Amino acid sequence: MRKIIFILSTIISFISCKKILSKKIMIEKNPFGITKDGIPVDQYTLNNKSGMKVQIITYGGIITAIEVPDRDGKVLDVTLGFKKLGDYEKRSPYFGALIGRYGNRIANGKFKLDGKEYNLVQNDGENHLHGGDKGFDKVVWTAETLILNDSAQLKLLYQSKDMEEGYPGNLDVEVIYRLTNDNSIEVEYKAATDKKTVLNLTQHTYFNLSEDKNILNHKLMINADKYIPVDENLIPLGELVSVNGSPFDFKLLKTIGKDIEDNHIQLERGGGFDHCWVLNEQNIGLRTSAILLDPASGRQMEVLTDEPGIQFYSGNFLDGSLPMKNSDFFYEKRSGLCLETQHYPNSPNEPSFPTVELNPGEKYYSKTVFKFTNRP
Ligand code: BGC
Repeated sequence: MRKIIFILSTIISFISCKKILSKKIMIEKNPFGITKDGIPVDQYTLNNKSGMKVQIITYGGIITAIEVPDRDGKVLDVTLGFKKLGDYEKRSPYFGALIGRYGNRIANGKFKLDGKEYNLVQNDGENHLHGGDKGFDKVVWTAETLILNDSAQLKLLYQSKDMEEGYPGNLDVEVIYRLTNDNSIEVEYKAATDKKTVLNLTQHTYFNLSEDKNILNHKLMINADKYIPVDENLIPLGELVSVNGSPFDFKLLKTIGKDIEDNHIQLERGGGFDHCWVLNEQNIGLRTSAILLDPASGRQMEVLTDEPGIQFYSGNFLDGSLPMKNSDFFYEKRSGLCLETQHYPNSPNEPSFPTVELNPGEKYYSKTVFKFTNRP
């Protein structure tokens, strides 16, 4: 009997291997619905030669699916999201979205540039979060596709008007999603302004590399000796604090569920992890900032970035009210987690933090890579 099972599984894995090897670099385009303002939205599917697939919609530049194989070749969509455009419009906690103009919070929605005060939309209590009421996650982007030798690429373009959500400057933004044959998703952010402004672009995909209903059994490494403690409204207190001896120490791969319920004022404030880590080796360009591993399936995601920080949000505000895209169930607390590469929260009001200012004539550029592999 054992022998038969062995022969059968060898045949099955041979067939599925052949299937994967015959995959090619390809981009498909399909309609994904019409926004409440009557704008048609498209979904692009990027395929690579290794059988990996990424789906992105022009609404919010949202990644609606990432399909990757595990160590046995079993393919799984490792992202959270909705089936329908209407849900992304109405009640999304930024599932999969591009975030701008400012990823994360700005205290009281206020900041000064050259002595002039700017007032942003206050959409998170008194504070400004993820670009306001209609951030880059809620606009329809223009798309251009390109097939390269080793990758499939989607370029998204958006022109943000002077004073949109309170930000100065007409801003031209370009985001490139590139799926390469080595199972990496490269995200490149470019922008230019005609007036001095602030900018902090990021990506807000919720990941769950497992078939578990939450991410507590995942292991995480964050390449950071320090993190940024916050007040009750998740605004940085200002100082960068060592992670040593605290639940915030992810210098070596650690199970996320291990310390998440510890009695620690910062975990209480975040309802779990919802903090920005100060990445090591700043100003050297792209380097490993985090590694996420699902030990059960072997699926691993490495996050590389040139940004100084990474917000690790453990999906604490998910509360069982949002419907899952692939079943009739609902996303419960910590069903997914975000690893948002970015500058530090509230930087426009913290002169000691790396600057987020962008001047006319300057080119904003930032790159993040999500690289998928498997561990034996
Ligand atoms: C923030 C959370 C916020 C969530 C919204 C995350 O980036 O860190 O505090 O609630 O986005 O979905």
